[in-house]
Amino acid sequence: MNTQDRQPLLEVRDLKKYFKSAGGTLKAVDGVSFTIYKGETLGMVGESGCGKTTCGRTAMGVYPKTGGLSLFDGEDVHAMDRAARLKFTSRAQIIYQDPYASLDPRMTVADIIAEGIDIHGLASGRNDRTKRVYELLDQVGLNTEHANRFAHEFSGGQRQRIGIARALAVDPEFIMCDEPISALDVSIQAQIVNLLIRLQKERGLTYLFIAHDLAMVKHISDRIAVMYLGSLVELTESTRLYENPVHPYTRALLSAIPIPDPDVELSRTRIELKGEVTSPIDPPPGCRFAGRCSKACDKCRTETPALREIEPGHFAACHLV
Ligand SMILES: Nc1ncnc2c1ncn2[C@@H]1O[C@H](COP(=O)(O)OP(=O)(O)OP(=O)(O)O)[C@@H](O)[C@H]1O
Ligand SMILES: [Mg+2]
Repeated sequence: MNTQDRQPLLEVRDLKKYFKSAGGTLKAVDGVSFTIYKGETLGMVGESGCGKTTCGRTAMGVYPKTGGLSLFDGEDVHAMDRAARLKFTSRAQIIYQDPYASLDPRMTVADIIAEGIDIHGLASGRNDRTKRVYELLDQVGLNTEHANRFAHEFSGGQRQRIGIARALAVDPEFIMCDEPISALDVSIQAQIVNLLIRLQKERGLTYLFIAHDLAMVKHISDRIAVMYLGSLVELTESTRLYENPVHPYTRALLSAIPIPDPDVELSRTRIELKGEVTSPIDPPPGCRFAGRCSKACDKCRTETPALREIEPGHFAACHLV
């Protein structure tokens, strides 16, 4: 994408989401900033529990925020009245992590897919509704005979196709894809990613694509944000992140991806993450990665590093960069 004419669609500024927990304040998202431009895919990666889902859901106004700001096409998602919220949900949709839990097993596929069509009154009648459902089934690679069957009759990959059709039904501009492939067999994962890429091209969609490993994310993302315990540690173009990862955590994540060439694979070193994972409950000051970082110095244990631009479009939060 030409960097000059990029238009922001989702702008997240210093977003915070804290949960009260028995032991104190759980800082699930603690000052995250990024922009997603129209037509691009921003990948978001990080280990389980680092706050990806909470960040995405708070950015979309599904959760109230603790602090900061999230603007969708310039509008504060947390300050929308009912009508604005309804309009927003026809423009921004979510595909969920677990296609087994996110589809009501007692509903027919047609009723699941048509949920948004019904809420937003998009169909002119019964026939138009059915026609739209058939078109959506076709677009995601399912058959019209699937329409009257129940979600529990389908495999994981098929269920995720149903989830994608449900999201597409309102003809959105933006979709948060929350680990849409991690519950699926490896053989099915590429099919779903390729389907999402094709739909993006056909419909000019903008994606936030959340995942916990970097391998598949690289394939779909224009830029990648790396998250660690509630904060972004690095953000840049996908190719750049692979060529020149600067944050020790990004380097460790990348070193864990197997390389198809056996000679290269055998000769290279994996960076193992050692040490204690800092608790997100009332975390101490300093870099949250410091306890696992082989390069950490005194400053890392006392001062929280800010996300800084270290080269054009490449941001990192590390005192040592
Ligand atoms: N509703 C909630 N109430 C309290 N704590 C929560 C809630 N949702 C998430 N958390 C906590 O916030 C942190 C971030 O969770 P989140 O689900 O956002 O992580 P994630 O990166 O999406 O993980 P995964 O890859 O497993 O989906 C975790 O410590 C989690 O236990
Ligand atoms: Mg999650």
